[in-house]
Amino acid sequence: MNMGYSRTIIITGGAGFIGSHVVRLFVSKHPDYHVINFDKLTYAGNLANLTDIENKPNYTFVKGDICDYELVKKVISENNVDGIIHLAAESHVDRSITDPFIFAKTNVLGTLTLLQAAREFWEPSRWEGKRFYHISTDEVYGALELTNPEGLESPFVTKASSAGHKAYGRTFFTEETRYQPHSPYSAAKASSDHFVRAYHDTYGMPTIVTNCSNNYGPYQFPEKLIPLFINNIRNRKPLPVYGKGENVRDWLYVEDHARAIDLIFHKGKVAQTYNIGGFNEWKNIDIVRLLIKTVDRLLGRPEGADDDLITFVTDRKGHDLRYAIDSRKLQRELGWEPQLQFEEGLEKTVRWYLGNQDWLDNVTSGDYQAYYERMYKCR
Ligand code: NAD
Ligand code: DAU
Repeated sequence: MNMGYSRTIIITGGAGFIGSHVVRLFVSKHPDYHVINFDKLTYAGNLANLTDIENKPNYTFVKGDICDYELVKKVISENNVDGIIHLAAESHVDRSITDPFIFAKTNVLGTLTLLQAAREFWEPSRWEGKRFYHISTDEVYGALELTNPEGLESPFVTKASSAGHKAYGRTFFTEETRYQPHSPYSAAKASSDHFVRAYHDTYGMPTIVTNCSNNYGPYQFPEKLIPLFINNIRNRKPLPVYGKGENVRDWLYVEDHARAIDLIFHKGKVAQTYNIGGFNEWKNIDIVRLLIKTVDRLLGRPEGADDDLITFVTDRKGHDLRYAIDSRKLQRELGWEPQLQFEEGLEKTVRWYLGNQDWLDNVTSGDYQAYYERMYKCR
């Protein structure tokens, strides 16, 4: 049943960090689409991320596991779904190092389950009007060299680039870069990307894959660097910087990613891969210093008051040195450009977490954690 809507799409993982921004954008921007948020609500999924749109008539939430073939098939067929934007995943590298199996299950078998269920329903229509869009990561490409620890002036600049727009090496990940994942997380994501492409090449399914750099912004679970450190600075807890803090990440505001997903879902070419990123490389230690400065200023603490929270700890196993994404194909072919400049975006993000302490306190509370740790162990 399409209930008068022009399209019905499933967004998997819509209760998570990036997924909630994608759901919000699609529900608001496309009132003629029926948007089904399909999410298992693991520790990382939180319906509190979507309270502002939960009563919209074109929004439906289904609690379910992407590994549950019968349920996925039922939701696709009963709703006559014609598009899937797939974000559901286990997403935290550190967790993948301690518990790799759930990463293979969710990210690989879950993706395969979705592909197969969609294929069963879509293939008889010869794929007319159908689209399977898989959201992946730059981590599948492995790590780049860090040839200039002080940073060179980047040859590429976007509106999202930081004021100094530095590059810490001369190479970037392009869509042609060979896959060379290092962590169980990125190995599982790489495997899922291969399955998606295989469904296009073998059965003709209209698929698209995108690989994005590190996202930051509201509603990110505080196990990831930026929200974890904002919360720790607020509570004057140590900031565990892995190794020497010299690893480089390429940061993009989450709403810029969501806008890219909207554009690519509608205008991207079938069987293509697009890299998404804003040419905005930062050394971890520089981000940490900027976070301390920003949080302290916004809380009215004297400058330098929390510098001693920085604590260098044992490095992450297999820690990728540098990520830097070349998104010129997306800019050239589809005209995408990120909108939010990094220093402005980071301040906006810090303000959001400080202004939403209930959200932070809830997801870091003993009750929330204990409940999900129990669930985690059962799987
Ligand atoms: P997240 O961990 O915040 O959210 C993941 C969501 O998936 C949660 O809502 C969770 O409940 C749901 N989920 C997990 N297992 C599920 C299952 N078996 N069935 C149904 N739902 C399930 O993740 P995120 O950071 O928002 O990342 C979303 C996607 O984007 C992932 O595929 C990730 O690999 C990719 N990605 C993330 C980043 C980043 O910086 N966060 C960058 C590039 C790509
Ligand atoms: O590049 C895209 C990827 O970005 C996504 O695919 C992943 O889902 C997402 O989690 C993210 O992976 P990272 O490992 O880069 O993000 P994280 O926030 O965990 O770490 C960012 C950097 O900060 C990384 O170099 C490790 C470091 N770090 C992280 C934590 C949590 C620390 O030094 N201390 C910490 O406590």
